[in-house]
Amino acid sequence: MTRTVRAKAPAKVNLQLAVGAPEPDGYHPLVTVFQALDLWETVEATPRTDGQIRLTVDVAAGAPVDASGVPLDGTNLAWRAAELLARTFGITDGVDLHLIKGVPVAGGMAGGSADAAAALVACAEAWDTGATRGELLTLARRLGADVPFSLHGHTAVGLGRGDDLMPAMTHGEFHWVLATQRDGLSTPSVFAEYDRRIEAREQARSELEIDREVMTALMAGDPVALGSALTNDLEGPALALMPRLGELLDAADAAEACGAIVSGSGPTVAALARSRQHALAMAAHLRASRLADAVVTASGPASGTVLIQD
Ligand code: C5P
Repeated sequence: MTRTVRAKAPAKVNLQLAVGAPEPDGYHPLVTVFQALDLWETVEATPRTDGQIRLTVDVAAGAPVDASGVPLDGTNLAWRAAELLARTFGITDGVDLHLIKGVPVAGGMAGGSADAAAALVACAEAWDTGATRGELLTLARRLGADVPFSLHGHTAVGLGRGDDLMPAMTHGEFHWVLATQRDGLSTPSVFAEYDRRIEAREQARSELEIDREVMTALMAGDPVALGSALTNDLEGPALALMPRLGELLDAADAAEACGAIVSGSGPTVAALARSRQHALAMAAHLRASRLADAVVTASGPASGTVLIQD
């Protein structure tokens, strides 16, 4: 009997993103602090006996996601995750993958990486591979720099390409407002703009050190201190490619955000609120500004990728 297995993986926001000079392979060494948020990508995996992989995509009810640009072929990271898992564990079955997207596409919140992480966990179970969490983490690193964190969740420091993770200690819950754009920004183009700005000396390269202010604010559960410690080396490049994001950061400021930042390589703007109540008020303010295509609230830290039990 074929059975459908479901897994969900969280979105992320970067609380610190320090970027070093590119390595010969084009990748940039990073020091980053990730926080998982309770916006989820869900992947349903149903084994097929014919060895084929098939992929379909839906949007979660009420989620501000335009999934029209999501590839349905072997270039989709969830498909590649299933393929890599099958190859590694000698699986000859195929799988129907159904993605239910709750995280903005190309938004700087690791939605595609979350699909890959959820596909790994769902397929590992559906195919009965017996894979350990550690084995899945090794495969996750091969799929992309943000995939290991999607698997890990909570709050973590990422070194190397961002895929070498150390859990961070936190206290309590942080409340976020996320303002998304219909048009995405491609991660490689934002890194390329970062390189151009460094060469043209329009931006200085920062030290690759873990930001102690961020770590202290997380431990204290203090959103005001965390808000003023948020940094992102990719924010300047993202603003250069999409100038209206600057107005959105100003609007978050006017709504008394503890801090606001472009998330990862953008274009989503993440604003940190003092409380759940403040997040709702700030979301209303940002919606009224009409500078974002959608505005949602979310809380972190959320769990990593988990199976959804029926
Ligand atoms: O690993 P992932 O596929 O998510 O990365 C997408 C792109 O982002 C890479 O092709 C590269 O251009 C850029 N990148 C980078 N340095 C990193 C992570 C990503 O230059 N540490």
